[in-house]
Amino acid sequence: MHDRWTRFNAYLVENQDLGMALDVSQVNFPPGYLEVMERPMSAAFDQMHDIEAGAIANPDEDRMVGHYWLRAPDLAPAPEIRDAISSTVANIERFAADVHSGRVAPVSGDRFTHLLMIGIGGSALGPQLVADALGTADAPLSIHFIDNTDPDGMDRVFDAIGPDLARTLIVVVSKSGGTRETRNGMLEARQWCARSGLTFARQAVAVTGTGSALHRLATSEAWLASFPMWDWVGGRTSVTGPVGLLPAALQRIDIQAFLEGARQMDRHTRVPDLRRNPAAMLSAMWYHCTAGRGAKDMVILPYKDRLSLFSRYLQQLVMESLGKALDLQGRPVHQGLTVYGNKGSTDQHAYVQQLREGVHNFFVTFIHVLEDRSHHGLETLEVEEGVTSGDYLTGFHLGTRRALLEAGRDTITITLRRVDARSLGALIALFERAVGLYAHLAGINAYHQPGVEAGKRAAGRVVAIQKRLLSLLRQGTSGTVEELAGSIGSPDEAETVYHVLEHLCANGRARVVKDGLPAGKVYGAREASSGGAA
Ligand code: PA5
Repeated sequence: MHDRWTRFNAYLVENQDLGMALDVSQVNFPPGYLEVMERPMSAAFDQMHDIEAGAIANPDEDRMVGHYWLRAPDLAPAPEIRDAISSTVANIERFAADVHSGRVAPVSGDRFTHLLMIGIGGSALGPQLVADALGTADAPLSIHFIDNTDPDGMDRVFDAIGPDLARTLIVVVSKSGGTRETRNGMLEARQWCARSGLTFARQAVAVTGTGSALHRLATSEAWLASFPMWDWVGGRTSVTGPVGLLPAALQRIDIQAFLEGARQMDRHTRVPDLRRNPAAMLSAMWYHCTAGRGAKDMVILPYKDRLSLFSRYLQQLVMESLGKALDLQGRPVHQGLTVYGNKGSTDQHAYVQQLREGVHNFFVTFIHVLEDRSHHGLETLEVEEGVTSGDYLTGFHLGTRRALLEAGRDTITITLRRVDARSLGALIALFERAVGLYAHLAGINAYHQPGVEAGKRAAGRVVAIQKRLLSLLRQGTSGTVEELAGSIGSPDEAETVYHVLEHLCANGRARVVKDGLPAGKVYGAREASSGGAA
């Protein structure tokens, strides 16, 4: 007991001003581990320093990595960058104020009351987290998201918006301006507007890279506004830039406090001292728990509903950054750190059973929030004498932590005084820097995503196959999978052709002419045609 208390005092990194603390005392790292880590961490601090000074830290894309400047523009390596950041924040605040006041209004003359965000990955996850964590019932615009190319998912969003579509500000977010899921969401939104007699451009806003296809479209159609995404900010670290700030400001979330929290955490995590730097301690613990090669998964368990999207947010930040085949020297390393989680105590009634008793392939990061309610006015109900619902939440957190300790599981705990714009900004900045430091320890480029690009290219090939197939079917050709695959010049793609045909049939755009086993089935155009076998 005494040992645990001593260890707790030795390995607690606190920031009183931010109301945050990191406790790694329940990670079973061996004596001398931190001393051993001091040298590699010192090299990582140097590299982080170079990144913040404008080094090309993303060599594959020949780009600087500047998300730290977003909350401290004076740190930017060039005055144009500093001015672009500052003026963009001011423009966002002005635009949000204009929307709230009705100066920027829908064609009907009413006020905008709904906000539809269209984007995916780093262009969606940050805004989703911020809206869920900080959104309030009295926000001036209620927010909706389209973050996929699932037509049914989109219909659900438009059904939920219903007749309020006329009062919906539609923000399309894409750094590249060419992401298919986002383009499709925009085209569907356009069609829903047209069906309701609305002009999409009169209620649309773009957040995109200058000169991108989306930027050109927004300019040529005179959309309401366009905000920049800079090539030196990656999607997964863009939440303190226009991607996160615009929707937050539109929901009247305090973006200055959000930026201040991130800025303050950056100052705290810039300290080149492993034991006093929470991001360094966090990454050193990841390195220990995973043997420096992703050998164990990180379970994120915030005991707070408002943070239930945090694990999803971190999944991208951590896995897209650290999940890399090659190191910076081009040697195969297959690095990564798997992240999953939801929230406590809810997950105690689900997978925590396995964490306590099953396969030992994880470590847990708890997030504990001290203040129970944001509605301080509400009288605190005692569900039992002297005990509130919030006391139970704390009890479940501490109890689970103890149970995992007894089972020999490693746990990290981050304590926040409360969830607000400042602490959320700080929490995000903490993990951003921990990822950056860990990437240096692992010797990888955290700022590119070749795997994502590979997936995009592969999807493009499937769509190309479908286009050739449909055109063939529409000419009246019918045939088996193998015949059709051969006819479109893709004899090796029979399985893809089969799945594409099944999808077309399920949606009434092709039909099964003769049923049977997959190899014997004959497919044809939607309408009966006289075409013979291919
Ligand atoms: O983090 C990233 O870079 C990606 O997840 C992107 O955000 C995602 O692919 C969307 O890209 P874009 O913003 O170009 O539409």
